Amino acid sequence: MRKLAILGFGTVGSGTVESFYHHKEKIAKRIGFTPDIKYILDIRDFPESPYKDKVIHDFSVIENDPEIAVAAEVMGGLNPALDFTKRLLSKGISVVTSNKELVARHGAELLALAKANNCSYLFEASTGGAIPIIRTLTDSLSSNYIYKIQGILNGTTNFILTKMREEGLPFNEALKLAQDLGYAEKDPTADISGADSARKISILASIAFGKHIKPEWVKTVGIDRVTSEDMAYAESLGAKIKLVAVASKESDSDKIFITVAPYIVCNNHQLAHVDDVFNAVMVDASGAGRLMFYGQGAGKLPTASAVLADITAALTETNSSDNVWEECEEDIIIKTDGEEGLPILE
Ligand code: HSE
Repeated sequence: MRKLAILGFGTVGSGTVESFYHHKEKIAKRIGFTPDIKYILDIRDFPESPYKDKVIHDFSVIENDPEIAVAAEVMGGLNPALDFTKRLLSKGISVVTSNKELVARHGAELLALAKANNCSYLFEASTGGAIPIIRTLTDSLSSNYIYKIQGILNGTTNFILTKMREEGLPFNEALKLAQDLGYAEKDPTADISGADSARKISILASIAFGKHIKPEWVKTVGIDRVTSEDMAYAESLGAKIKLVAVASKESDSDKIFITVAPYIVCNNHQLAHVDDVFNAVMVDASGAGRLMFYGQGAGKLPTASAVLADITAALTETNSSDNVWEECEEDIIIKTDGEEGLPILE
């Protein structure tokens, strides 16, 4: 039972397969045996691919193969990813994923299912791309109390805001440039509206605070109403406008503050210097103090790097993390009134 399955052969899936074969010897050294990819599940055929013989279309082949130890779900979306993930975990097959929507919506249930079946559900690639923030929160900072997380978690909107500021482009032109360069999707709604960042901060907050914070509870404001005048105003204050996701909780309170919004970020704040498609996450923790993580939050190889790290971990550990999210109600969230103007990041 040492074989792998890759669910989805799109950008992240193909990056994962290519990186796996590139780094296979290194992975083998680390885990003490040589793993291999047995199946790649996709609805399409890839006759030109060197991996075409591994491509299958029937999921049940994977779930019924006792050799499969780990599956990488890199299909995205809720369906059929949720059903496939549940069926695999129920059989004790570990699942690693880049699917932020699925983790944000169903993380508590899937982590509990993994624990009950003595396997792992890992999602380093769901937030921050190559930035190793999930394992940092679950493992490296597990003995700290985490007060606050502030992050630029969406590369597309960070690129758009950078171009509006540096080149004076209006929002629509900056968006078009992001689409022409392949950063923004054809339908960029999830990025622009802040929904993508909301999913990611709800995942980070759920890990940090041990409770499943649903993405729909995150007060979310997108960047589509940011104007050139707002940019100039921020500049006059010695600041920049950034789409920032924030989650915080005082140690003596049950309540959690969580939001995504275009913030005025003063130039003496480190997040003010995170430009273009880069992501960054700043964590305030009780013992460690302030930490900052910076890197490529999207793209084929950066995301594949995180998926491969999880595959390696899933092949070595069995459910070693105590990453468990309690189910909770929305009244745990601090409700704030709609604010006039752009908030200032502290
Ligand atoms: N659309 C996302 C971004 C991709 O621009 O950051 C990575 O989650």
